[in-house]
Amino acid sequence: QQSRLVVDNDFEVAPVNDRIFGSFVEHLGRCVYTGIYEPGHPTADQDGFRQDVIDLVKELGATTIRYPGGNFVSGYRWEDGVGPKEDRPRRLDLAWHSTETNQFGLHEMAAWLDKTGGNELMEAVNLGTRGLEDALDLLEYANIPGGTKLSEARRANGADKPFDIRMWCLGNEMDGPWQLGHKTAEDYGTLAASVAAGMRQMDPDVELVVCGSSAHSMPTFGTWEETVLQKTYNNVNFVSCHAYYFPDRKADGTRDMASFLASGVDMDGFIKDVAAAIDATKARLKSKHEVYISFDEWNVWYQQEEQSRNPSGIGNWPVAPRLLEDIYSAADAVVFGDLMITLLKNADRVHAASLAQLVNVIAPIMTEPGGPAWRQTTFYPFSLTAKLAKGGTVLEPKLASGTYETAKYGEVPTVNSVAVRGADGSVNVFVVNRSLNEANEFEIALPKGAAFAGASAQTLHEDDIDAKNTLDDQNRVTLHDNDTVAFDAAAGTVRVTLPPVSWTAVRVK
Ligand code: AHR
Repeated sequence: QQSRLVVDNDFEVAPVNDRIFGSFVEHLGRCVYTGIYEPGHPTADQDGFRQDVIDLVKELGATTIRYPGGNFVSGYRWEDGVGPKEDRPRRLDLAWHSTETNQFGLHEMAAWLDKTGGNELMEAVNLGTRGLEDALDLLEYANIPGGTKLSEARRANGADKPFDIRMWCLGNEMDGPWQLGHKTAEDYGTLAASVAAGMRQMDPDVELVVCGSSAHSMPTFGTWEETVLQKTYNNVNFVSCHAYYFPDRKADGTRDMASFLASGVDMDGFIKDVAAAIDATKARLKSKHEVYISFDEWNVWYQQEEQSRNPSGIGNWPVAPRLLEDIYSAADAVVFGDLMITLLKNADRVHAASLAQLVNVIAPIMTEPGGPAWRQTTFYPFSLTAKLAKGGTVLEPKLASGTYETAKYGEVPTVNSVAVRGADGSVNVFVVNRSLNEANEFEIALPKGAAFAGASAQTLHEDDIDAKNTLDDQNRVTLHDNDTVAFDAAAGTVRVTLPPVSWTAVRVK
């Protein structure tokens, strides 16, 4: 099979917003406790932060961090997590049927982000069990310099300067019947509009994310966006999208890998559908205001498997249980890389995204309590894409590819790809071959008139597409130099062979 990408410097989609490389830390399972925070761990610093995890987070290149949930936030009382640790209450976390010790809260998160290199905090307010007053209290505590009860409380708790949080999520997945305090679109839209207006009265420059649908397949998808945006449009900056993919089981018990490998097709359609809802609302309201998409939960997640089952029992509320600890395969990493390509392709509409999540919970980084931290397969496409694409400009993807048939999405392109022009004039191409059994001869037609010295390529591919990185075999799956890469200066092309089920980054300089 063959495919061809024409890279043309004259046709730009949009600059890459660094916020596309955000991630997500929820009080869920071992993401916080024994993930990023583990006093007593051999690498822990004086704040109890694991240095081995901080090093990996830096290497990953994640930017904005969404916090503290997720479903967790819909029952969270933020004030439980501030002040002297010995006074902080233990609470039930109804979302994950766990006990929250509150030993980690807003101050710890801000301090941790300083140590990971100054990542931006994206804070969520609880619109499940709470509303306007508590959102305003949290905003006052976080962003008002001083001179009021809550800003002075923050200062007394050790943060003299405000946290100055720009991005705020107005609740989480409020369309989901599983959500504590789940609401209809009408009720949520009315609440979100009043919370947005109130927050702006205090801090006009906050950037607000209103909840969109928690999946493209939600029965309320579309009408939810329309109703909520109609009520909130001029007071919010983003509407959220959430999407998780996993290979369905077929009738014969095997997995539908062909559809799974085309998950990017669904994500692309999701983004285009939400963009249409934004445009329709803008037109209806005759507004000049722009609303973008915050794709603030995305990943591969084997949602129906055992590891995602909550603890149960009225007397059983464990602290930091092992939950959602999916171990990713090489095939999962290829799909994951495809999702990143899809986010980049839509850089004009998607101005922020959060890989859900960061450590242990459906995460690129795994840890053992008291033990090592290591990279999952999905770590590699994320870190290399972030490294090569940050600061660049997405170019219009003019791609010719064959197709194949899927049960879920019909006929889909076999290859998905995007090119990002680096600030240094380099061309960085990200490409997946979705075919289960055929290699693909991929050609890049380089921008006319530009001079390049050479090309290199790195590929994630395993003959065993189920290969994984585990505690006992932490580096089984990594990136490999793709030696098939061939740069032809005279023809202005780069050719590279893409193995079946593979993700590749090509850099031309
Ligand atoms: O990321 C795991 C969970 O998925 C989040 O808590 C929730 O928002 C979503 O359903």
